Amino acid sequence: MISIIKDYEHKTKMKYSNSNPIGPGHWNAVSYRGNWINFYSDADFIYEYFTRQIIEKFKHKNRLTIVDFGGGDGILLHTIKQQLEENNFKVIAINLDLNKDNLKLCKKKYPEVIAKKWDILRQYKKDFADIIVSRFVLQYQNTPGQLELIKNANFSLKKSGLFLLMWVGNKNGKKFNAIMAKITGIIMNIAYRKALQTRNFPSKYSTKKLMASAGFKKITAVKVDARGFLSANAWAERFNLNNKESNELKKKFYSYSKSNNLMTTIDGKLGYEFYIPFIAAEK
Ligand SMILES: C[S@@+](CC[C@H](N)C(=O)[O-])C[C@H]1O[C@@H](n2cnc3c(N)ncnc32)[C@H](O)[C@@H]1O
Repeated sequence: MISIIKDYEHKTKMKYSNSNPIGPGHWNAVSYRGNWINFYSDADFIYEYFTRQIIEKFKHKNRLTIVDFGGGDGILLHTIKQQLEENNFKVIAINLDLNKDNLKLCKKKYPEVIAKKWDILRQYKKDFADIIVSRFVLQYQNTPGQLELIKNANFSLKKSGLFLLMWVGNKNGKKFNAIMAKITGIIMNIAYRKALQTRNFPSKYSTKKLMASAGFKKITAVKVDARGFLSANAWAERFNLNNKESNELKKKFYSYSKSNNLMTTIDGKLGYEFYIPFIAAEK
């Protein structure tokens, strides 16, 4: 499964933090409080869901160690670190990811972030971090992998440490997983069943249960105040699709729209909506 994730990341043309333009149906765009933003890099969005929670919880501390589980190109850690430093914190920021392209990019773009090759389904250092963040990584793992990821976060946090977890969801879980697996199958040129192993968009409720069973306390789960929408064009724009793959994808989107109610049209583009669940919990 890990090799699928590596290949999938390798196929991406645009990295998370720098996709343009922003707007409905483009990659990374969500509608947040009335505006379309890049939800990977938007500083206000990151402040609201990550930095603000950290400042509130750690106001009596000034040195913080933050570990990102699957931090990609490091944009999230870079932004949080910068915002915390503006609030007089000293921050050590460590990005654990297994994709070497993303790690290379992280080292180049954000040298202040320590980028380390690590499979987060393996235990990292015990009682080590004040904060663990993980964004848009959970849905890559199957259910046992999701529990493992959450347990490993608990293992690496210090007592009373904070875990901030954000991922992609949809109210129609199974159908959504199926469509995402079909799209992934086309992108990766792999069988549907294989793709389905890496497409597991869990609900807020099931994830809250996993958090409790991994030993977390004070678990607060919310739906982020943002609405996502992705079209076939967005996928084609983001991945290195050739014309044939691109056309196949567009046709599939059209046929999905006939067979289920997940598809909708915004600004003349056919696509599907998603929401973003978020959990803050303490060890
Ligand atoms: C959609 S990207 C999100 C990147 C980053 N968290 C952000 O929000 O900007 C998902 C990242 O998770 C990483 N990933 C997925 N499974 C992983 C695993 N088992 N161990 C380490 N990294 C993993 C991928 O390599 C990729 O960089």
